[in-house]
This record gives sequence, C-alpha cells and structure tokens, in this order.
Amino acid sequence: MANRKPEPQPGIMELSPYVPGESEVPGVANPIKLSSNETPLGPSPKAVAAYKAAAEHLDRYPDGAATALRQAIARKFGLDPERIVCGAGSDELINLLAHAYIGPGDEMVHSAHAFLIYKIATLSSGGKPVAAPERNYCADVDAMLERVTPRTKMVFVANPNNPTGTYLPHDEVRRLRRSLPSHTLLVLDAAYGEYVRRNDYEAGFELVATTGNTVMLRTFSKVYGLAALRLGWAYCPAPVAEVLNRVRGPFNISGPAIAAGVAALEDAGHIETAVAHNETWLPWVTAEIGKLGLKVSPSIGNFVLIHFPSEQRAIAADAHLKSRGIIVRRVAAYGLPDCLRMTIGTEGDNRAVVAALAEFVGRP
Ligand SMILES: Cc1ncc(COP(=O)(O)O)c(C=O)c1O
Repeated sequence: MANRKPEPQPGIMELSPYVPGESEVPGVANPIKLSSNETPLGPSPKAVAAYKAAAEHLDRYPDGAATALRQAIARKFGLDPERIVCGAGSDELINLLAHAYIGPGDEMVHSAHAFLIYKIATLSSGGKPVAAPERNYCADVDAMLERVTPRTKMVFVANPNNPTGTYLPHDEVRRLRRSLPSHTLLVLDAAYGEYVRRNDYEAGFELVATTGNTVMLRTFSKVYGLAALRLGWAYCPAPVAEVLNRVRGPFNISGPAIAAGVAALEDAGHIETAVAHNETWLPWVTAEIGKLGLKVSPSIGNFVLIHFPSEQRAIAADAHLKSRGIIVRRVAAYGLPDCLRMTIGTEGDNRAVVAALAEFVGRP
C-alpha cells in the first residue's frame, strides 16, 4: 500500500499532448508565422482599446456569467443569450462537453483527420475516440454513421475542418443529425465559419434551433484575431447550456476578454475586411501552389493543406521554408505525414511562401 502511486484516470496516459504550431525559427528575428491559422490583419483596434480600458479594473472579478458578451453575441446573431455559454477558447468548451457527456466505455466518433482536441478531450474523459475514414480528405457521413454504436455519446464535426479545409454541405450535416440516435450529441465546430461564402454551408444555427441534441461552437481566435485572449462560445439546447454552466469554472472568461469580445463583435467592418482579404488570397495561394505541381485540398477556411509526394518531401519542404524564415504546420499528428498546412497570410507572406516553394520544387 505504501508504494502505491497516484494514478490518473484511464485514457490519460494514452493521449499525446497537443503540440501547438511553432512560432520561432532559430536565428530569424521576425519569422513569417503561418502555423496557427491566425488572421494576418490582427484584431479590431476597437477590441484592443476595450482590452486596455479593462486593464484599469484588474482588481475585480469578472461577471461570471459573461452577460455583456453573451448579449452581444445574441444581438449579432439573433440568438437566445440563455443558450450561449462562453469558454476560454472553444478548446475549453470541447473539453467541458467531453467531460460532461463522455465517460469510461463511451465512444466519440470523429472523421480521420479531424481537429485533434476532440480525441484528446475524449481520452482524458476516459472515453474511446472512434475514427471514420474520409473521402478526398473530407468527412464522410456514411463512414461516420457506420461507426455509431449504442455507446456513441458524441460526434464532433469541424466544419470546415482543420487541417484539411474541406467541409460538409448543410444537407449532409442534416442527414448526419437525422441518422444519429437522439441520445448522441452532435457538436458542430464552426471555428472558421465566418470565412465561408458558400450557399450550401450552414454553421449550425439551424440544427441547434430545431433539435435538442446539437451544439455549435465558435471562436474569437480566428477571424476576430483574439487568439491570445482565449475566447469561444457554444450555442446549445437549454439543457446542455445548463450542464455546461454547472461544470465550467465560475469565472472562466476574464474581464478584459469579455470587453474585447464585445467590441470585436461590434466592429463588423473589420471582419468584412478580414474575410475579403481571405477571399482574395485563398484562391491565389491555392492556384499558385497548384501551378508548382503540388496538390492543394480545396479549402474554405483561412488555410490550405498542401500535399507532397512523400513524408520525406514534406519534411524537406518544411525545412526549406524555415530556412527562408517561414513557419508552416507539420500535420503528421493528424495522420497526414506527407502534408503541410499553411495559413493565408499578408500579401507579402503569401508571395514569400509561393516563391520559397517554387525554389523547393525546382530542386530535387
Ligand atoms: C476546428 C477548430 N476548433 C477549435 C479550435 C480552437 O480554437 P480556440 O482558440 O477557440 O480554442 C481550433 C483552433 O485551431 C480549430 O481549428
């Protein structure tokens, strides 16, 4: 007895910790960082001003219910603020959902190259992640449904998905929801939803409104440019919101984050500029890299997945880009060892990547 060690919950030692995108290149003072799908335009100046003003009140606890932020989100999107739960990034909400609904013996279905936190959150809750193969690097509803069992408590779909950039049209998401058991929570993670301009896409509002078992996740880390603040939100059926409010920390969103989030939502012009920038450069980057003979998965996010002929070539391309001061993302942990993911950057960043890749492919 005396020698027994503290043991973590089952599953925790099976998971590999999440490795964030790199941010430094040794010897390069200001690298071009395209490894974490951050916006090249930064946050709204109004959000920065609100953050600075909130610094005057650091002695006070924030409003634990983040009321002003939930109301601002509700106003902007026409939602019920009682069904919005804010989190320290959508990462926190993914973890809270998993901890609240998945336990030992339960399963969570995800597509093969889905965002990694779903798997990590499930394992850390003692549950079993079940991967469904994809078709052309896109989630496949039939393959997911084939893996559903009575133990499937949750299905996570990032739409569009990171790191592939591909998406499920709304009809397919609806078919997935219709075919899942009613006790299975479908979590639609629309972290990149603001960037999408497709008639057949819907981030999740409709299914949350019309079903009692669908949750939509959103983040302020991408188009809003507030990744450092850690701010995300979930739109939920009322009973799910109640559960999340029981398990979340009582002050999980900081006061400055609430203030900056409200101001960011009000600056619609800044978001439009960021989306327009992406609309210009996403097709340009896709086409230019394609002209180099490299396959690029069709993306509707603010990043692209670039395919190389082998893992070795992907590693060599990564090293070559680094030698030019450019950091992209290796995605071997996502089951994509022969790919690199690149965030759409400023015009100069994008041109620099294409020029460096042209050098790379010119050299066997
Ligand atoms: C699909 C997806 N969901 C969630 C997140 C997490 O975002 P947050 O910064 O809000 O935790 C990311 C971040 O890369 C993402 O790509």
